[in-house]
Amino acid sequence: MVILEANTIIKQFKSHDSLINAVDRASIKVEEGEFVAIIGSSGSGKSTFLHILGGLDKPNYGSVNIRGNCITDMKPDELARFRGMYTGFVFQKHNLIPQLTVLENIMIPTVMCERPAFQYEEHLKKLTKILGLEERLNYLPGEISGGQQQRCAIARAMINRPQVLFCDEPTGNLDRKNADEVLDLLLKTREAIGQTIIMVTHDMKIAEKADRVFVMDNGVLSLS
Ligand SMILES: Nc1ncnc2c1ncn2[C@@H]1O[C@H](COP(=O)(O)OP(=O)(O)OP(=O)(O)O)[C@@H](O)[C@H]1O
Ligand SMILES: [Mg+2]
Repeated sequence: MVILEANTIIKQFKSHDSLINAVDRASIKVEEGEFVAIIGSSGSGKSTFLHILGGLDKPNYGSVNIRGNCITDMKPDELARFRGMYTGFVFQKHNLIPQLTVLENIMIPTVMCERPAFQYEEHLKKLTKILGLEERLNYLPGEISGGQQQRCAIARAMINRPQVLFCDEPTGNLDRKNADEVLDLLLKTREAIGQTIIMVTHDMKIAEKADRVFVMDNGVLSLS
């Protein structure tokens, strides 16, 4: 079953007196449970495209469907609710709130979008165990390592049990050992939950583990 479908996405940015085609007629279809990687050089439009797929940004042209719902047509309130229910996002920078503890950061999506009858407690236990964060729940982001911060961001993205997880360079700031460990945990968590992952990465070792790899080149997306 196709869980996400994007058709002919165009995104332009005005910069000084020129127009940048950040995403140039990109289309993609992703099957439920698939792990898709998007690679490409810096500035090629990967983050812009991922943000549009995840409903964080609107395209100038084209549509995105998730589970048969056209998110590009949704009003802001409806879109925010939909995102909270069905999607998770791990950003290029982890974006943790420095004044909140690890636990509070992880729980942010649950406050913004409560899922009725969902046992957060059990899921939280499972997630923090897999991600090795159990001993750090009461620490502030500034008191834990870069790898732990990234794992915290992953737990936050997964706490609502999203069906589609969008990851933008989730291991970009980590050394080889930590990057491998975080990816391993991400894939383990995916196995336990059975979700779809769309990941932007520079890391070929990670891309090798994906079911399909796409390349973004100057805003143009193609299968690798
Ligand atoms: N808000 C914005 N305003 C103007 N231009 C932007 C904006 N966001 C992105 N761009 C431009 O769009 C192009 C694509 O940027 P994007 O961040 O999507 O690239 P990327 O592939 O994610 O790069 P990186 O690998 O360095 O993260 C770049 O030329 C960038 O300068
Ligand atoms: Mg980027």
